[in-house]
Amino acid sequence: MSTNIESHLDETRLFPPSQGFSENARIGSRAAYDALYRKSIESPEEFWSAEAEELQWSRKWDQVLDWSKAPFAKWFVGGKTNISANCLDRHLDGPRKDKTAIIWEGEPGDTRTLTYAELHEQVCLFSNALKNNGVTKGDRVIIYMPMVPEAAVAMLACARIGAVHSVVFGGFSADSIRDRIADSGATAVITADGGWRRGSIVPLKHNVDEALNGQGAEQVARVFVLRRTEQDVAMQEGRDVWWHDAVAGASSDCPAEELDAEDPLFILYTSGSTGKPKGILHTTAGYMVGTYVSTKYVFDIRDDDVYWCTADVGWITGHSYIVYGPLANGATVLMYEGAPNQGTKEADWGRFWEMVQRHKVTIFYTAPTAIRAFIKAGEHFPEKYDLSSLRLLGTVGEPINPEAWIWYHKTIGGERCPIVDTWWQTETGAIMITPVPGAIPTKPGSATLPFLGVDAAIVDETGEETGPNEGGKLVIRKPWPSMLRTLWGDDDRYVDTYWKEYQEKGYYLAGDGARRDEDGYFWIVGRLDDVLNVSGHRLGTAEVESALVSHDTVAESAVVGRPDEIKGQGVVAFVTLKSGIEPNEDLNKELRNHVGKVIGAIAKPDEIRFTAALPKTRSGKIMRRLLKEICAGGKISGDTTTLEDFSVITSLQGKEEG
Ligand code: WT7
Repeated sequence: MSTNIESHLDETRLFPPSQGFSENARIGSRAAYDALYRKSIESPEEFWSAEAEELQWSRKWDQVLDWSKAPFAKWFVGGKTNISANCLDRHLDGPRKDKTAIIWEGEPGDTRTLTYAELHEQVCLFSNALKNNGVTKGDRVIIYMPMVPEAAVAMLACARIGAVHSVVFGGFSADSIRDRIADSGATAVITADGGWRRGSIVPLKHNVDEALNGQGAEQVARVFVLRRTEQDVAMQEGRDVWWHDAVAGASSDCPAEELDAEDPLFILYTSGSTGKPKGILHTTAGYMVGTYVSTKYVFDIRDDDVYWCTADVGWITGHSYIVYGPLANGATVLMYEGAPNQGTKEADWGRFWEMVQRHKVTIFYTAPTAIRAFIKAGEHFPEKYDLSSLRLLGTVGEPINPEAWIWYHKTIGGERCPIVDTWWQTETGAIMITPVPGAIPTKPGSATLPFLGVDAAIVDETGEETGPNEGGKLVIRKPWPSMLRTLWGDDDRYVDTYWKEYQEKGYYLAGDGARRDEDGYFWIVGRLDDVLNVSGHRLGTAEVESALVSHDTVAESAVVGRPDEIKGQGVVAFVTLKSGIEPNEDLNKELRNHVGKVIGAIAKPDEIRFTAALPKTRSGKIMRRLLKEICAGGKISGDTTTLEDFSVITSLQGKEEG
């Protein structure tokens, strides 16, 4: 299952939405989309402000966009609002008050539901608990939680009081938590005693304790601990407080803080091509408008929908399309704690489909890696269940192979549900390229056309738009409300990473390679930088390399991706050892675990190859391209004349064959 450009070039099948779907959709035809899109690009400020008016503001903005200090954008300048109030309070005056906001299911099978009124109360209680414990506006708060309603409550409570949350995915290590605490300067952490994942308990509190023992975390004054799995955890006197104790004495009255449109909302760390993860900063109003509008049109969300996005709140997809976007739309959101292949029974790949049937899910949004895993597990799992409640499917995170798309369409969607293949990034905050489901005929493997207000293009090195089917770099030519504002504490890196390449034109560089076909449809190929996409998650090769080099035995390492049937890309590490150290199986295992400990399980190399030397140019740069080619099959192409010592390659290839 390759995701390269060639395999898509002959993909011409076209899947228009059904007449029934289009008739009921907000945007029901290609012509309607074209007209709206044209208007949104000709007068973006008019488009975005009309949408923003559907939300609640305590003070209206004076100016929609201030781009005078580009690339530092200000949206809805002078406006005052609160995203927590827009996700909660806004719905309490009418019939949505008693509507289910969150249907939650734990991995062991326990369930809870919260109405909008109940979720509002929980958020107010915890907001006051935060305040009572000294957390105030502008403070950074780390959230390291399992997928339980309290994760959403914690985010919404921070947003309510103006504290800046930074959610750390529960699969990340203590070291990763510590890095994020240090970089963000967080003074509080919200966690749980543990969470359920594939039948075992993730020791979240234990990891936090370990993180707080190290340098850079001294300023953390408070740790809130939710009881979830009931196992013993150490509580440090004066620092740690149980969630239930913190809310026990708190008032349920907590008016939302009136925030400036540009007040920081959250920082979310994501991998870059060099160094430590980057703290993507999103601010209040633009992010709110972007996630609200995209959820409304892309999922064409309705009051009677049961919407399920299978992401974890630790990633941007969970932020934008489990919490903020759907709740701002007053939707009913299904939230699930565990893994798709572990229910109450061992490796039960029917768990998701049984949940779709039982909760009558209407909109289902997942990642290609999950779809490929379902294909491998077998059709007999979904076939056991009634999936007729589904009306719309979505995918995100990496290019979807046409084969997987067709399987999703037939086996899950019953050939009835449009599929929205949504391209976007942590940085973009909201969906950027996607079919609008009632309007755009889809092609398997293509994210199709830009979303309203999004000026996406494929350009060459000089910034000129490329012709049909010519590959190039994906850029966004105009600012959009939910764009990142900067990298936390590093404006220079923000400018360098995203804006320097097309500085004169003022284009945002997404870092992806792509092409547009003769119909203008976008086909995303993948990252152009040293960032891997493992199971839809971004992983910097440099991060894995520095994790490896931090081990006593390692002299040098080079990490590359190789095609992987399930994960999209797998991680291969070439490692040279310090002199006197002999490679063996135990060391191999130890190094893999070491990476897991330094970063998190998702970063563990699938394979470690010990080598006497790495291929380098005469100027000392590791030639990753050659290593990639070796991993993908061993054939070396292109120019190797700059290679310092060609025997390195021959010996690496020898290993491949032996
Ligand atoms: C990178 C962003 C946005 C939420 C999940 C990942 C790749 C994302 C698609 C898609 C092809 C995609 C890109 C992008 N990507 N969605 N529908 N088709 N590629 O967020 O971790 O910030 O990663 O994911 O390479 O740059 P992220």
